[in-house]
Amino acid sequence: MSKTILVTGGTGFIGNCFCKLLLDERPEYKVINVDVCTYAANPATIEEELKNSNYKFYKTDIRDREAIDKIFETEKPDIVVNFAAESHVDRSITNPGIFLETNIMGTAVLMDACRKYGIERYHQVSTDEVYGDLPLDRPDLFFHEDTPLHTSSPYSTSKASADLLVLAYHRTYGLPVTISRCSNNYGPYQFPEKLIPLMIHNATHDKSLPVYGEGLNVRDWLYVKDHCYGILAVLEKGRVGEVYNLGGHNEKANIEIVKIILEKLGKPESLITYVADRHGHDQRYAIDPQKAMDELGWAPTTMFKDGIVLTIDWYLSEEGKKWTEECTSGEYLKWIEKNY
Ligand code: NAD
Ligand code: DAU
Repeated sequence: MSKTILVTGGTGFIGNCFCKLLLDERPEYKVINVDVCTYAANPATIEEELKNSNYKFYKTDIRDREAIDKIFETEKPDIVVNFAAESHVDRSITNPGIFLETNIMGTAVLMDACRKYGIERYHQVSTDEVYGDLPLDRPDLFFHEDTPLHTSSPYSTSKASADLLVLAYHRTYGLPVTISRCSNNYGPYQFPEKLIPLMIHNATHDKSLPVYGEGLNVRDWLYVKDHCYGILAVLEKGRVGEVYNLGGHNEKANIEIVKIILEKLGKPESLITYVADRHGHDQRYAIDPQKAMDELGWAPTTMFKDGIVLTIDWYLSEEGKKWTEECTSGEYLKWIEKNY
C-alpha cells in the first residue's frame, strides 16, 4: 500500500542509509527527507536520491514549528521517523545547548505536528547511551529495554529526555509511538569526526590517531544497514508504545578497532597517540537485542570482519575520498549556502 514516510535527518549518516533502503526495497513508499543540513550533513550524500521521483527533500529545521506544520499540511505523512539530532558526544561536552534544543525540543515539535495532523506511527531513533555504561569487568551484564536510564553526557541526557517525552506523548495523548535504541553504527557516509571514519582518514593521510585514555573503553558495533533494517522491522512489526534494543553482540575495545584499521590499511601502529580521556567517558556499552530478534524476527546480517572491509573500501573509493575531502575542507557548507 502506498504510504508517505517523513524521515528527519535523512542527509546524515544513518537517516540517509534508511532513505536509500526505503527507496530500494519499498518502492510503494514516498520518502520525504526533512533536514536542516548542519555541519554533519554533506549534501553529496543525497545526490542519487534527489533523482528519484519518490523522494523529496526539505531543508528545514525540526525546531521550526511553523515550517514543520506546513510540511505536514502539504505532505500528509502516514509515518514519521526521527533521526535528526546533534549526535557527537564530544561536541555535546563543549556546547550542550544545541543538543537540548534539537534533540529534545525538535522531538516535541515533530510530535506536536503528529498530534495535530494525525499519523499512523511516530518512531524515535534512540541510542544505547541512554542506559549509561557498564563496568569493564562484568562481561555478563547487558542493556535490556527495562534497564534504568542513567546518562553520562549532555548528548545522552538529551536523547534520554527525548525518549521520556515520546513515551509521555504515548501515555498522555495516545500518540502511536515506538522507540529503537541502537549501539554504535559504522559504515559509509559517517562524518569523519566519529572513531572509525576519523581513524581511517588519519591513517590514510599518515596523521596521528588520537586514542582517548588507554583505548580500553568498549563499544558494541553494528553495520549501519543492519540498524536500518531493524528500524524498518519495528515500523512494520513492532508494537505501539514499545522500546526495542538493536545491536549485534559485537563488542570491541577502541584500541582493537584502531589496530584493525591500521592493519587493513597497512599502516604502522606508531601512528597511535594516546591523548587525554573524554570527560565522563562511558566504559562499556553492550546491547541485548533479544526482544527485537524474538518479536520482529530481526537479526544483523553483516559480520564485523566484512562490514569493516566494506567501510574501509568505501572511504578509499573515489566517491568516498571526494566525500570525505569535502567534509574535512568544509567545501560542502559553501554549496549548501549557495543552493538553499
Ligand atoms: P548525523 O550527525 O550523521 O546526522 C544527523 C542529521 O540530523 C544531519 O543530517 C543533520 O543535518 C540533521 N539535523 C541536525 N539538527 C537538525 C535540525 N534541528 N533539524 C533538522 N535536521 C537536523 O547522525 P547519525 O549518526 O546519522 O545519527 C542519527 C540518529 O541516530 C541520531 O538521532 C542519533 O542519536 C541516533 N543514533 C546514532 C548512532 C550512531 O552510532 N551514529 C547509534 C544509535 C543511535
Ligand atoms: O552508542 C551509540 C552512540 O555511538 C551514538 O548514540 C552516538 O551518536 C555516536 O556518536 C556514538 O557515540 P560514541 O561516543 O560511542 O562514538 P565516537 O565515535 O565518538 O567514539 C567511539 C569511542 O571511541 C569512544 O569510546 C570514544 C573513542 N574515541 C573517539 C574519537 C572520536 C577515541 O578514542 N578517539 C577519538 O578521536
